[in-house]
Amino acid sequence: MPATVVVGTQWGDEGKGKFTDLLAKDMTMVVRYQGGHNAGHTLVVGGEKFALQLVPSGVLYSHITPVIGNGVVVDPFVLLSEMQMLTDRGIDCSKLKVSGNAHLILPYHQVYDELHERSLGSSQLGTTRRGIGPAYADKALRVGIRVQDLLDEAIFRKKLGLVLGHTNKVLSAVFDREPINAEELADRVLDECLEKLRPHIADTVTLVHEELESTGKVLFEGAQATFLDLDHGTYPFVTSSSPSAGGACTGAGVGPRYLQRIMGVAKAYVTRVGSGPFPTELFDEVGDHLVEVGQEFGTNTGRRRRPGWIDTVMLRHAVRLNSLTELSITKLDVLDKLDTVKICTGYEIDGQMVTSMPYHQSELHAAKPVYVELPGWQQDLTQITEAADLPAEAKAFLAEIEKQVGVPIGLVSTGPGRKQVIEFSDQHA
Ligand code: IMP
Repeated sequence: MPATVVVGTQWGDEGKGKFTDLLAKDMTMVVRYQGGHNAGHTLVVGGEKFALQLVPSGVLYSHITPVIGNGVVVDPFVLLSEMQMLTDRGIDCSKLKVSGNAHLILPYHQVYDELHERSLGSSQLGTTRRGIGPAYADKALRVGIRVQDLLDEAIFRKKLGLVLGHTNKVLSAVFDREPINAEELADRVLDECLEKLRPHIADTVTLVHEELESTGKVLFEGAQATFLDLDHGTYPFVTSSSPSAGGACTGAGVGPRYLQRIMGVAKAYVTRVGSGPFPTELFDEVGDHLVEVGQEFGTNTGRRRRPGWIDTVMLRHAVRLNSLTELSITKLDVLDKLDTVKICTGYEIDGQMVTSMPYHQSELHAAKPVYVELPGWQQDLTQITEAADLPAEAKAFLAEIEKQVGVPIGLVSTGPGRKQVIEFSDQHA
């Protein structure tokens, strides 16, 4: 009956896919509940690297039913090419289910995303230009097209004609861009996508509930992260969905009482792509070191991620927003060679010490991080699999985060492989 949620606690790219994959071993269903192919989950299984954007991470296990929930925005071309890539590499995608209520991302969303970003000039958000915001905007305007519309050709053509009638006016009047032909696009989507997608389109709410009632082994996989949440993130530098744990309820169609284990995932430092406030951002050689050792370049876009020290003010807020039951840490090994390591425990704002997230964003922009500085361990952690074998300095670093954040640290990852993981909570049992 109870379900598990894996949620990012920073600005994305925390390595959630690795823990989703690990937990999926004991699950029967993995459900994506928001976002689209702006996500990039890299998994290393048996030395093979898989970069997933839309298909839930659980697809790599044959016993899992992967589900794309109603809260996701789906580019049908991207979904099919990802399924083809997986099939070509021997992964069976036949069990994948896509909610008929999920909204489609179509090419005009990407065109609009690109043009709108460019028009913002120096104020641009740094979106992935995947059409995510425009697709969610159409959903909120109630002119979006849902996956289920593909199953009724007349409805699909009518809705596409309606939305493009308006969107084309904006494209030409505001952006001086030629219109997109609704009939041609409808033909292309129906010809190239419909028959391939048809067996996967389902009433996923019923499927999820049946699974909750039978095995109870359902995992909700968050994409992006708490501070990219449309409501709770650093608006407007956020994505257009609800990555926070509550998003699992609306994005998959379950009530909050089902969510029992809520695992937050944080990197041992922080990264962010795109614009927006970032109190612990590093502009020095330590930052360059984190980017280089951590290979901090976007899985999808190749953009260099902005690096910084771990920030427990953010993490404490993430505990509240998501009702986290535990925190798991990734990429601890990236800190291996540093002389000292820092943990942000508060901010100095206008001469005042603040330990909780300032509600006014101008204050966050002005926040100066206050750090606890600890000695580094200067030891390779990548082969350590037992908490007891961690160097004392690494244990002290994790214990300090745990103390600051107020929830137990569960799993700690020390490399990309499935086996490079430590159960830190055992340390304190
Ligand atoms: P969008 O989601 O493409 O609209 O982009 C909005 C913001 O979210 C931008 O700052 C992106 O860089 C960021 N973003 C979106 N998806 C991810 C992700 O998977 N990881 C990290 N940042 C993301």
